[in-house]
Amino acid sequence: MAFNVKPENLCYAIMGARSLGIHGLNVTMPHKIEVIRYLDDLDGNVRLVGSVNTILNINGKLIGYTTDGIGALNALRYSGEDPTNKKIVILGAGGASRSISFLLAKYARELVILNRTVEKAENLAKEIASSLGMGQDAVRFGRLDYGHLELELRDADIVINATSIGMKPNDGETPISRELLHSNLTVFDIVYEPLETRLLREARQVGAKTIDGLSMLIHQGAASFEIWTGMKAPIEVMRKAALKKIREELTSH
Ligand code: ATR
Repeated sequence: MAFNVKPENLCYAIMGARSLGIHGLNVTMPHKIEVIRYLDDLDGNVRLVGSVNTILNINGKLIGYTTDGIGALNALRYSGEDPTNKKIVILGAGGASRSISFLLAKYARELVILNRTVEKAENLAKEIASSLGMGQDAVRFGRLDYGHLELELRDADIVINATSIGMKPNDGETPISRELLHSNLTVFDIVYEPLETRLLREARQVGAKTIDGLSMLIHQGAASFEIWTGMKAPIEVMRKAALKKIREELTSH
């Protein structure tokens, strides 16, 4: 079940989940960072990343986890893309980007974080480099603008949109101008509404490999499922259920 919670009601939503004895929940934007203050304990990874998308309730004790990083890694692997030794460009420096960047930095040859607010990209790049003991050249940062995209995408292997650019109702927007896309790129968009964003459509048109936000949603949900149940998640069952739901919604509109 999905609940739309306004930022000013976040503490009540979490208190409600606690009182109702809800065993597990996912949290999405814009609550991933703010929710931390209402939790009792955090997974070690959250302390590093500073973002929560999964809550586990053990006898009234709420523990925060982040599965965005592992969700992105598994979505890449599931589509046959191995991030090991690749140059990865990530757009955004919010909660999702933090989780994905911290994890992919362990695999990438080079990670470049581009963000509208360049200070956030700088902080994230420096935090990753120092906590993983990496050189400044292995994790770089810049402003999310045409010039940086042109420079960095030329020899990149993977680009990930971890901003909300292109999400409904702004689905006419794209973070990357079409002429900067090329067929040697794997273009991964974490936006899942619409399923094929303008970015993914244009990437497909230039012959790039594409990975959609549904794949990310399913794999991060699968990792959450494993935290809640201790059981292996049925990826194919989840994918079919999600696609069925999307089709139902499309036909009901
Ligand atoms: P999430 O949890 O999904 O990562 P978030 O923490 O709110 O959500 O982060 C949203 C990201 O999208 C940020 O990197 C944000 O850039 P800023 O740090 O400059 O705010 C980016 N973003 C959102 N709308 C944008 C837009 N119209 N143009 C450029 N970047 C945008």
